[in-house]
Amino acid sequence: MTSQKNSHPVISFQNVSFTYDGRINVIKGASFDVSPGEFIGIIGPNGGGKTTALKLMLGFLKPKEGKIVLRGKVGYVPQARVYDHQFPITLKEVVMTGSLSLMNLFGKYPKGVSDKAEEWLFKFDLQDLKDQAIGSLSGGQVQKGLIARALISDPEILLLDEPTANIDVMFEKQIFTFLQELRGVKTILVVTHNFDAIAQSAERVICFQNEVSSMQPKEVCNHFSIGMYHQTKGSLDD
Ligand SMILES: Nc1ncnc2c1ncn2[C@@H]1O[C@H](COP(=O)(O)OP(=O)(O)OP(=O)(O)O)[C@@H](O)[C@H]1O
Ligand SMILES: [Mg+2]
Repeated sequence: MTSQKNSHPVISFQNVSFTYDGRINVIKGASFDVSPGEFIGIIGPNGGGKTTALKLMLGFLKPKEGKIVLRGKVGYVPQARVYDHQFPITLKEVVMTGSLSLMNLFGKYPKGVSDKAEEWLFKFDLQDLKDQAIGSLSGGQVQKGLIARALISDPEILLLDEPTANIDVMFEKQIFTFLQELRGVKTILVVTHNFDAIAQSAERVICFQNEVSSMQPKEVCNHFSIGMYHQTKGSLDD
C-alpha cells in the first residue's frame, strides 16, 4: 500500500502474522502504513487482535512473519486493568513515570518533569487528587491519569487502547475533542468501540478481526456499532 501523504510512514506493517501459541494466527498477513499526522481509529471484535497489534508496534511482541517499522517517540495508554489497591504510588507519580526514561541513576527526574505532570493534571481537572494513592481512585480517574502519563513526554505517536472505557460521557467527549486538537500534530491510533467518536475524529479506520482491513470512517458499517462484525470490503490500498 502506498502512503497517503508524501512522506515516510511512521508505522508500517509488512505482511505481519502473529501467534501466541505457535498455531492460531491472531494477526494474519497484515500490511498497512500510517503516515505522519494521521488520526486512525482501530476497531474490531473482542479478541480481534487490536491490543496485540499495539503491542507489536511497541516491540513488546515480535511478529512470527513479516516486518514492522515504527519511527518516532511513542506515548502509550494501555487498556484498563484492575489496579492493586495497596500499590503505594500517587497519581502524580504515575503521571511522572511517563518520563521514566529521563530519570537519573539516583532515581531523580530532571527539573521540569514535576511541573509538567502538574500541568497535565490541571488540564484534566485532577489537580486535587495528585497526592492520592492510585488504588484509592476511581477507574475513570486512573484512566485520565494514564492519558496524562502518555502525553507528558510530548510523543510524536500516540497509541491509545480503549482510553475512554471507564470514563463518563462528558470526559469521553473531552478526550476526543482534545485528541482532535492534536490532529495533524501527532500521529494518533486509538482503539475504541465508540463509532460516533470515530466518525467525527478519525481520517481512516483499520479493522482487526484476525485479518486486517482499512476503510474510511463513513464506510464503517452500522452493524459494527452493535458488535456484529463481519468481513469488510474495505481495501488496504485506500
Ligand atoms: N498473552 C496472551 N497469551 C495467549 N493468548 C493471548 C494473549 N493475549 C491475548 N491473547 C489472545 O489473542 C487474541 C487477541 O487478543 P487481543 O487482546 O489482541 O484482542 P483485542 O482485539 O484487543 O480484544 P478486546 O476488544 O477484548 O480488547 C484473543 O483470542 C486473546 O485471547
Ligand atoms: Mg484489547
